[in-house]
Amino acid sequence: MDMVKRPRRLRGNETLRKMVRETRMDKSSLIYPLFVQEGEGIREEIPSMPGQYRYSLDILPEKLSQLADAGVGSVMLFGIPAVKDEVGSGAYAEDGIVQKALRKAKAEVPDLYYITDVCMCEYTSHGHCGVLCGQDVDNDKTCALLARTALSHVQAGADMVAPSDMMDGRVGAIRALLDENGYRNTPIMSYAVKYASAFYGPFREAADSAPAFGDRRSYQMDFHNSREGIKEALLDVEEGADIIMVKPAMSFLDMVTKVRDAVSVPVAAYSVSGEYAMVKAAAMKGWIDEERIVCEMAASVYRAGAQIYLTYYAEELARFMDEGRIG
Ligand code: PBG
Repeated sequence: MDMVKRPRRLRGNETLRKMVRETRMDKSSLIYPLFVQEGEGIREEIPSMPGQYRYSLDILPEKLSQLADAGVGSVMLFGIPAVKDEVGSGAYAEDGIVQKALRKAKAEVPDLYYITDVCMCEYTSHGHCGVLCGQDVDNDKTCALLARTALSHVQAGADMVAPSDMMDGRVGAIRALLDENGYRNTPIMSYAVKYASAFYGPFREAADSAPAFGDRRSYQMDFHNSREGIKEALLDVEEGADIIMVKPAMSFLDMVTKVRDAVSVPVAAYSVSGEYAMVKAAAMKGWIDEERIVCEMAASVYRAGAQIYLTYYAEELARFMDEGRIG
């Protein structure tokens, strides 16, 4: 055949394939989501997320050190309080579970970078992401409480806060309160493009945070929409978000690319609990090759344009990167 251009020429050997690789990954961009709870000696496996656990504070440092040793530099902390109430007061309590976890973690494993999820659904008795006014979440009252929550996290040692509630104006409210209290340099990573998604199912079991009535569609985004995600991302950047997150990752990679083109701040993507659960379940049945699937999913997130990747597979990915199986 008479062909000058033969794409296969660049696929002939591993050294060459690696040389021309377009997407390169680094462990420093991984963030591991971690659940902390009250109690002692607890390392409780999350039923729908085999291999993921809820840790009590005495066990936590051991897990954090393991992550640090694996080269996962950052964690995202989620708290499960002992008691929940109407106004989610555990979220902004001085001795709340995340606040206590931060103090302990910073003292015992200071090398990690600590990000906190700022939301109220784990702390409210009704499971919604804010305070209620009738059957609806009161946006502006919730923003004030979210800002209080973020401030208390930072005061307890958080290096970065990540609001995941999807209230309007919360990034601005958090930025203002942090600045007023002298935390001008603490970054905000906004879950800006967050869809109302069935992919969060296992997380809600893990955090015991499923809404007691209704759903989250009056605040999280409709998954049919794309341009609306750009609106959310731009608004949050205007309000002072330093990093914009798209969530879930796998079904929303188009949004990662679009957001990356629309904003000039770093873009993060979160492979959520349902993505993890699907891979794990199929792997446990022997139906897929877990390692290869995890690597492909990670590469697709970076290829789409994310610079930061939140995943329950962070520790495994760090190892795969070390071993040169992905990277
Ligand atoms: C809190 C929050 C959720 C997740 C992250 N932060 C749950 C939700 O919005 O229902 C989901 C994470 C995951 O599924 O892994 N609002």
